[in-house]
Order: sequence, then structure tokens, then C-alpha cells
Amino acid sequence: MRKPHFPCKILITAGPTHEHLDPVRFITNSSTGTIGYELARCAQERGHKVVLISGPSHLEAPKGVKTVRVTSARQMKREVDRYFPASQCIICAAAVSDFRPARFHAKKNKKTEADTVVRLIKNPDILLSLGRKKKGRILVGFALETDNLLKNSREKLERKNLDLIIANKISLQDSPFGRGRFNYLLIDRQGRDERNGITKTALAGIILDRLEKICYVMLYLYILKGGMT
Ligand code: CTP
Repeated sequence: MRKPHFPCKILITAGPTHEHLDPVRFITNSSTGTIGYELARCAQERGHKVVLISGPSHLEAPKGVKTVRVTSARQMKREVDRYFPASQCIICAAAVSDFRPARFHAKKNKKTEADTVVRLIKNPDILLSLGRKKKGRILVGFALETDNLLKNSREKLERKNLDLIIANKISLQDSPFGRGRFNYLLIDRQGRDERNGITKTALAGIILDRLEKICYVMLYLYILKGGMT
């Protein structure tokens, strides 16, 4: 187990969100939370202080990690905003539902003969909102793309004001959700790095190595500017 030279406070989001139409039905995606939980476990083992905000997931909370369970995107945002001020690094690995039903029916919707139309409205973009107020914090995001992986992910890095983005290609035949080996593209302000056939445990280690490197550079620049005098 490798310990960092100085421990950070790291906030991680993981898993999908459930956006309920009624008490029975909801909109979601196939995220299992694996990469977020691997990141939390690995960061905790390295000696960082970790808070994990998780959408619905069957995974067990990593030992020693403060884990807050939420259901919807709006609940996730509330909890992220609560822990954000005290965090130095934030990794948004959750597959947050971009939309939610405009209306929630407190009673189960009965099926009728007629077709049903569900109106969807936009959920808050948690990562985008953090990018606007991050100041000296380090912000890491993920990108799931069906096309133009590099171009779209670079655009996301800029638009959301990130320090690092991990991009995955997704199609109906080939999904990065769950366990197994997959391909990743990692982009930061210095360049990019691509690897194929890697496990999520290994990827979590690679992401944390990068994060720690960015922390050291920021601390070095801070000292150079006389911040520690
Ligand atoms: N994200 C978030 N809140 C949302 C949507 C996404 O925090 N409401 C974060 C995810 O955790 C991820 C990143 O934003 O780190 C990218 O998510 P992705 O779905 O790939 O992109 P979007 O920003 O939703 O853009 P688009 O769907 O147009 O590709």
C-alpha cells in the first residue's frame, strides 16, 4: 500500500440516480458505481480522507469511508454542496440522470388504454456547478460518449472547468458499466494518455496517481508565490 506525502480531503460521487415518476417507477441508467467505489477504497487505503456520495448501488461501502446514500440527482447535489467547502479534490464519477419527470405522482400511476406521455425536465449539472466555484480545488470528471470521444471530452474538460477527465466510449454492444476490462482515455491540461484492457481497480490507482501529481504541482506553485511564508 503506497501512502501519499500528504493526505487530501477527497469527495467522490458514484453510481446512478433514480428519478421517480411514482413510488414504483423511475428513470435510471446501467451504472453500478464500481469505479467510484474503487476510487474511494483506493484513496482511503492511501491515507486520504474520503467522503463518498453514492446513488443507489448494491456495492458495499468501502471500509473507513464516510458513505452517504442518496436516490435522486437533486439529493446528490444537496449532499455534494454540503461537503464541497471542506474538500480539496472532487471526483464526479456518478452517472447522474440528466433529466427527471416533470411531475411526481405520489400514488402509483394506473395503466390506461391510452398511450402515456412523460414530460422530462433537466436536472442540475453537479459537476458544472462545482467548476464555477472551485477556486483552488482539483476537479475530476468522466465523459461517456458514443461519438467523437476526444473532441467531446476535451470540450467537456473546458466547459466544466476540470483538471482531469476520464473518457469512455459507449455503445449498445460495448458498455463500460460494471466489472471487467475496458479501454480508457485520460485527458488533462498537459496532454492525454490512452490504455486498453484495464480493470477498474487499476484505473482507480492511475487516476489517484494523476490527482496526487496535480496536488504537488499546485502546492509547489503556492509555495513559490509565497503562500507558506
Ligand atoms: N454530471 C453531473 N451532473 C449531471 C450530469 C453529469 O455531475 N447532472 C457529471 C458526471 O458525474 C460526469 C460528467 O458530468 O463526471 C459527464 O457526464 P456526461 O453524462 O458524460 O456528460 P453531460 O455533461 O451530461 O453531457 P452530455 O450528456 O451532453 O454528453
